[in-house]
Amino acid sequence: MTTHNRTKHWQALDAAHHVHPFSDTAALNKEGVRVITHAEGVYLWDSEGHKIIDGMAGLWCVQVGYGNKELAEAGCEALRTLPYYNHFFKTTNPYTIDLAAKLAKLLPEGHERVLFANSGSEANDSALKLIRYYWNLKGKTKKKIHLSRELAYHGVTMAAASLSGLTPMHPQWDLPLPGFEKVPTPYWFGAKANGYGDIDPEAFGVLIAKALEDKIVELGPENVASFSAEPVQGAGGLIFPPSTYWPEVQRVCQKYDVLLHLDEVITGFGRTGEWFGANTYGIRPDIMTMAKGLSSGYQPISAISLGERMADTLLNANEEMVHGYTYSGHPVASAVALKNLEVMERDGLVGRTKGGVGAYFQKRLRETFEPHPLVGEVRGLGLLAAIELVPNKNERAFFANVGDVGTHCRNYCFNSGLISRAIRDTMVLSPPLTIVESEVEEIIAKLKSAIDNTARDYGKM
Ligand SMILES: Cc1ncc(COP(=O)(O)O)c(C=O)c1O
Repeated sequence: MTTHNRTKHWQALDAAHHVHPFSDTAALNKEGVRVITHAEGVYLWDSEGHKIIDGMAGLWCVQVGYGNKELAEAGCEALRTLPYYNHFFKTTNPYTIDLAAKLAKLLPEGHERVLFANSGSEANDSALKLIRYYWNLKGKTKKKIHLSRELAYHGVTMAAASLSGLTPMHPQWDLPLPGFEKVPTPYWFGAKANGYGDIDPEAFGVLIAKALEDKIVELGPENVASFSAEPVQGAGGLIFPPSTYWPEVQRVCQKYDVLLHLDEVITGFGRTGEWFGANTYGIRPDIMTMAKGLSSGYQPISAISLGERMADTLLNANEEMVHGYTYSGHPVASAVALKNLEVMERDGLVGRTKGGVGAYFQKRLRETFEPHPLVGEVRGLGLLAAIELVPNKNERAFFANVGDVGTHCRNYCFNSGLISRAIRDTMVLSPPLTIVESEVEEIIAKLKSAIDNTARDYGKM
């Protein structure tokens, strides 16, 4: 399907009326947007008829790939049967009940109770409210400070953006709100450049967990409500923590009675080769948030799960919990999410992400890019990977104008029909979990050509 003659029309209407997320509107309108018209498997098509391989699964979310008919059917069936009803008036519906029960089976031990929302940001916002409520019920009303990490991304509501540690997210909105404090990130590749010296990854993991402990002690444990973190930091540059990090963090949170909030919005639903990042790293969170892969992005839906300790307190308060959205547990979104989980389970998508195509993806990326003169590190797990572009191969230092080289390489990718994201100068991949080996090869060939061209342009090849 080519819709060439309509592209200019759509671009003009889009420029006139549609404000894009995370965009410089004037610059974008001058350049003209790309109109994505349809998608199938791991491929997207634009209105000019270009076929694009999606190395990012949309925004890290399309686990089952595009065009899944079973999910579409499940959504249509729910639309025909119960297009909407809420859960406020002592009511529920079969789709949401089944989804909650399914999640309780898949979630880490002790997480039997879930609340629903509509996005990752909302889920995180809700989690912080539930954390405050928990401490209020416990009579520990001074516990109000929310800790999170530098380079964290938790979304864009006032609270979720405050929790985020990507500093450009703050000044336009006078954020962070009071009571949000940051601790360092376990970004080992950047350790040397960030003044930690030539430390090995395991010692670095302990050191960064110790910085969390020091911060809690400095603020006073009686004032600290929670620590929020992604098992693997996504939008901050795909930061996989050293193996020593999470056990230490778990110990510190326990020692100082700080609730551990795990943001599984990217890592949830198979991305790292287990159902959750909590399984991959052996983390026992008090509260978890998830979105994206829950419905493979086919419907906007997110969830907040409560560990035993929080569930026992919050759900036995014998008073109304004054929280909830018009669309919490929307029947159509629930039906699609439930079908998505059933398809993922039946087709073994989590297992193939760990041992099958995921293992192939990791091996081929390392073989191809580790020797490359522009590459400082290839890291990844399951179907998540990052490739650090650096000025001097063996030095773990960054380019002076951070982001230029990454953007340059990203543009080569886009122009060759590959979507890969550049975070600073790190090229990131997170393809659908249904990807096959030949499609992995296509991504690698396109990325190799983009990195080769970038290296030439910067005099590194
Ligand atoms: C870890 C994490 N948390 C939260 C969010 C926010 O989710 P949403 O964009 O659905 O609000 C994102 C989005 O990328 C994310 O990566």
